[in-house]
Amino acid sequence: MKCQGKEDLFAGSFNFLEKITSKAYVFYVLFRRVFALYQLQRRTYKMRKMTFFMVLCFIFVVGVMTVFAEMPGPDSASLWNYISKESPYTQWSFWPDHQGMQPGRAPHGPLHKVYVNDMALNSTGTPVQYGSIQVKESYGKDKKLQNITVMYKVLGYNPDDGDWFWVLYGLDGSVKKEGKPAGCVGCHGSRAKNDFILVHEFK
Ligand code: HEC
Repeated sequence: MKCQGKEDLFAGSFNFLEKITSKAYVFYVLFRRVFALYQLQRRTYKMRKMTFFMVLCFIFVVGVMTVFAEMPGPDSASLWNYISKESPYTQWSFWPDHQGMQPGRAPHGPLHKVYVNDMALNSTGTPVQYGSIQVKESYGKDKKLQNITVMYKVLGYNPDDGDWFWVLYGLDGSVKKEGKPAGCVGCHGSRAKNDFILVHEFK
């Protein structure tokens, strides 16, 4: 009996050990499953994040390409071609607070019209968006067109003075001044806070 008692006792403790180890094993297996799932999720999450990021990059690149693909460089000939043929400025808009023909000051002549493209018009504040163009027609007192001045915002063209490319054209597209003429930059520079723009007020 004694012996059997001992056996029982052993058997009991073995049972106990077995129970614990089997439970631990179950926990271990469960833990591994959960951990594997977690890793898989992390991997798919990372992959999703990467795919999402790549899609964003793609959309951005395509967007930038479509916006800038047809934009001219900062040179007077291709800018003239752009505003007279590719995207005739006379089909653009006026600033909401500067519509149609308006009286002007020297050096630009007594009357003028200022046309702006969508990039300029849709700018919500200063500095205006790159790609913005303003075309000003200067008229004499007799309302005869005299010349055309243009401001074109080009990324990296002249960072110290608002990145504007300036041109003064004759009516046939001949170039009288271009680039960063000290006169244009200096006088418009008095309104650097309004991104060198004089006829439209940004709030
Ligand atoms: C002495 C000052 C002065 C100089 C120099 C000057 N501008 Fe202006 N500009 C003005 C003023 C003032 C206006 C506002 C319209 C007006 O009164 O004629 C203006 C308006 C403009 C506009 C319409 C958009 C805006 O900013 O309001 C363009 C484009 C422009 N100028 C281009 C030029 C170019 C290009 C040159 C150089 C070739 C030049 N300007 C030189 C004073 C000047």
